[in-house]
Amino acid sequence: MENRVIIGGQWGDEGKGKIVDALSKDVDWVLRYQGGANAGHTIHIGADKHVLHLVPSGILHDGVRCLLGGGMVIDPWSLRDEVLALEQKGHSVRDRMYISATAALLMPFHKRLDELRETRLKRKSIGTTGRGIGPAYLDKLQRTGMRMGDLLMPAENLERKAIEKILAANEVLSEFYDAEPLPARIVAEELVVLAQFLAPMVVNAYDKLSGVRAGTESALFEGAQGTMLDIDHGTFPYVTSSNSTIGGALTGTGLPPRSLGEINGIFKAYCTRVGNGPFPSELLGTKGDELRDAGGEYGATTGRARRCGWFDMVASRYAVDINGMTGVIITKLDVLDDMDSIQVATAYELIGEEIDVYPVLSEQIPLCRPVYREFPGWDKPTTEARQLQDLPANARKYLEYLEKELGALIVGVSVGRDREQMIWTPTGVTT
Ligand code: IMP
Ligand code: MG
Repeated sequence: MENRVIIGGQWGDEGKGKIVDALSKDVDWVLRYQGGANAGHTIHIGADKHVLHLVPSGILHDGVRCLLGGGMVIDPWSLRDEVLALEQKGHSVRDRMYISATAALLMPFHKRLDELRETRLKRKSIGTTGRGIGPAYLDKLQRTGMRMGDLLMPAENLERKAIEKILAANEVLSEFYDAEPLPARIVAEELVVLAQFLAPMVVNAYDKLSGVRAGTESALFEGAQGTMLDIDHGTFPYVTSSNSTIGGALTGTGLPPRSLGEINGIFKAYCTRVGNGPFPSELLGTKGDELRDAGGEYGATTGRARRCGWFDMVASRYAVDINGMTGVIITKLDVLDDMDSIQVATAYELIGEEIDVYPVLSEQIPLCRPVYREFPGWDKPTTEARQLQDLPANARKYLEYLEKELGALIVGVSVGRDREQMIWTPTGVTT
């Protein structure tokens, strides 16, 4: 098995969970490398629906080992609940899931601060998931935050350290935000109890991944969010607080570049975004509602209605280039089955000038008007297709166009939410 990185090519929710699940059957490791419980990876197996936030999607295959990498921010409360829910459904978790000791520990006050900051920003709010992601990464970067390795400390020391952090956060809560402080001792005691549950899974990831480094064990890197939500390369400030692009796979696991293998970008056959910020190819009217209904585009983490629009070739080509994608996978092609016509933003018009290079200053993006190219629909179901030949001619033409313009081979096409609804095209879609 070759190693592989799965990266979102758009603003998240591209269907990475399904693809990781499909590709992780035979790998030794599935590694999450950034983000936290802001992610919502939905996987359908028969009638069963699993939504994972922190646990890597590989957990649904027996025998696959999973790591929550050092680049993550981990909410121990959420993680315990997620593990218990999986165990209740009959999945073994604690014997094959590991947590990097260097991952940041997300505390309840991070969530409070996230909410309060968003409220204070009002019209300029980012539209975060409210999971405390920004404040937790901030504590990491200003070198004050706790780490998952702290859960290995003797109980009294852990409790003391947690109380100290909560009291410091309480000052900000009450003095800056005029909000209720958190009950420090109660929260710290809860954390001590959680430590008993989670500590057996906390490991030295450098040591645990020695087989991957040596090439004797295979790994699939599971990205969360998407390229356009990356803290450095996305639509700043309307982004998440981690590197969801390729660099995050390295810093978030501690593995060297040669361990990455194939780099697969996941793109929906159209585009969605949840939260605020620029989205040039957004459809605001009934056409957007139609896409949302057809695609079931509601957030897996917050239930929010996702903003929907057409495939954005300018932003997508940027995503291919920034990550060095060696192949892309197109998901939710079937959602377009009933459309009379399909559009793709092939360029932007920026103050009277047509550009096809993505403008990296996000102040410019709201000024960009998409230039569309229209494609005829196919008006036939694609959900039963298992090979390229099964697809209607117009659907194939659409894929061939995407492959050519993206400049990366399409190595897979997803035509439904179930595990089996996949067309694998290792040599691309252009024959
Ligand atoms: P945060 O990551 O919760 O701070 O949210 C920052 C921005 O990223 C908001 O626009 C969120 O809606 C968006 N976001 C965060 N995680 C995801 C995700 O997994 N899928 C889609 N959007 C996300
Ligand atoms: Mg999602």
